[in-house]
Amino acid sequence: MPDFVGAVDQGTTSTRFMIFDHDGAEVAKYQLEHEQILPRSGWVEHNPIEIWTRTAAVIQSTMQRAGLHDGDLVTIGLTNQRETTVVWNARTGRPYYNAIVWQDTRTDRIAAELQRDGRGQVIRDRTGLRPEAYFSGGKIQWILENVDGVRADAERGEAIFGTTDTWTLWNLTGGVNGGVHITDVTNASRTMLMDLTTLDWDDELLSFFGIPRAMLPEIRPSADPTGYGATVRQGPMAGEVPITAILGDQQAATVGQVCFAPGEAKNTYGTGNFLLLNTGPGPVRSESGLLTTPAYKFGEDPTIFALEGSIAVTGSAVQWLRDQLHIITSAAQSETLARQVDDNGGMYFVPAFSGLFAPYWRADARGAIVGLSRFHTDAHLARAALEAICYQSRDVVEAMQRDSGVVLDVLKVDGGVTANDLCMQLQSDILGVPVSRPTVSETTALGAAYAAGLAFGYWADTAELRAHWAEDRRWEPRWSEDQREEGYAGWKKAVTRALDWAG
Ligand code: G3P
Repeated sequence: MPDFVGAVDQGTTSTRFMIFDHDGAEVAKYQLEHEQILPRSGWVEHNPIEIWTRTAAVIQSTMQRAGLHDGDLVTIGLTNQRETTVVWNARTGRPYYNAIVWQDTRTDRIAAELQRDGRGQVIRDRTGLRPEAYFSGGKIQWILENVDGVRADAERGEAIFGTTDTWTLWNLTGGVNGGVHITDVTNASRTMLMDLTTLDWDDELLSFFGIPRAMLPEIRPSADPTGYGATVRQGPMAGEVPITAILGDQQAATVGQVCFAPGEAKNTYGTGNFLLLNTGPGPVRSESGLLTTPAYKFGEDPTIFALEGSIAVTGSAVQWLRDQLHIITSAAQSETLARQVDDNGGMYFVPAFSGLFAPYWRADARGAIVGLSRFHTDAHLARAALEAICYQSRDVVEAMQRDSGVVLDVLKVDGGVTANDLCMQLQSDILGVPVSRPTVSETTALGAAYAAGLAFGYWADTAELRAHWAEDRRWEPRWSEDQREEGYAGWKKAVTRALDWAG
């Protein structure tokens, strides 16, 4: 009798495969990184073939390490970095171009043009997004316009598009030998091509980008009892395991954190930060720079929506201290270094490397370090980088409260940076609310497993999943109200400098 659920988490810097038991506890996991290809300033690419071979390798290794076989898994869920765009040939399986990653800003001009005329408003109304280089539509347009032969193949349905969920699913289900071409509502909603009310591709939106409908995958619910196909005997699973869930990684973390009721929110700290607030059935429009996005759709149940605050650069600012400035040798060292000082000494770091996302949405903003004096050291810079993660989160929490009226009494957190005790203490100090981390820190993979298991009937309902959630650690605010407001005022001033830079 099979007794576990698997989850593939295809992320921005690595891919992992995880296995969970009926209590939602981790049984096994293995992960591999892939190369970040940076051909020019502002461009970020991944090699889709490398992503697929790493995915296959992590599945095989996890199963071997756990001593399990395909028959031990009830079902598999998929979750992925969102927006990252792959276009490949369905006959040969070969990508036409590297994957253009969500952080890539090469399509700024396409987005700016859409902003300038009435089309920007149509995009906002229909998709809940703003025209930005962040989303897939412009990235597909760029490939169609810049890579020879793609457009003709796309019109025939031979060149096909997918975010990395679709690319992974197509390969897992047989690739050139019958791979299925499917995505889910959460991923489709990040393209600027899907209408939030019909949950289907919209012809007028497709015309804005010149995208032939024939190249797009079928949009399905995020958890689907009929499944999206099964792994194949010739693939890394060496057997047939049904795949019954697909969710973008931030939506999966929302499920993994059991944010099933309106008013429940989570903040995930990865390369960027993504705060999602469940707003229930029916999209809530933002007046404060947040995105409206489906949180999940389970089978025939109504779609549950979220307001999202997306922050482009948080954990990757710490990587920058490590890889470009070499003031630390590991991300964990940012904490040791920052602990050498008691405060930022009046110095702020705004890591606007890809412009600023929510709530500012200024692609032209650039990074700034302000308030410097000779007194400052590398320790102050490390501290300012950690504070920047927390201040950016406060910016989106404030926007969220303005839009929804929901006042958080606790912030649920997950992701790599939550291992940084100082950063989590600062988050609580800067927000003035407790910060709570669950026992299963891999909430993204867990959420994909939950959705797949729910679709399969392995778990009865969301109440059963809610009972699994347990707190591992909580941080309480220690700053005085004056300290908090003075610190935040300094941050807001620093942000104006990063915005001013663009002129
Ligand atoms: O929207 C981008 C987001 O899905 C990326 O998440 O965790 O792969 O950096 P992550």
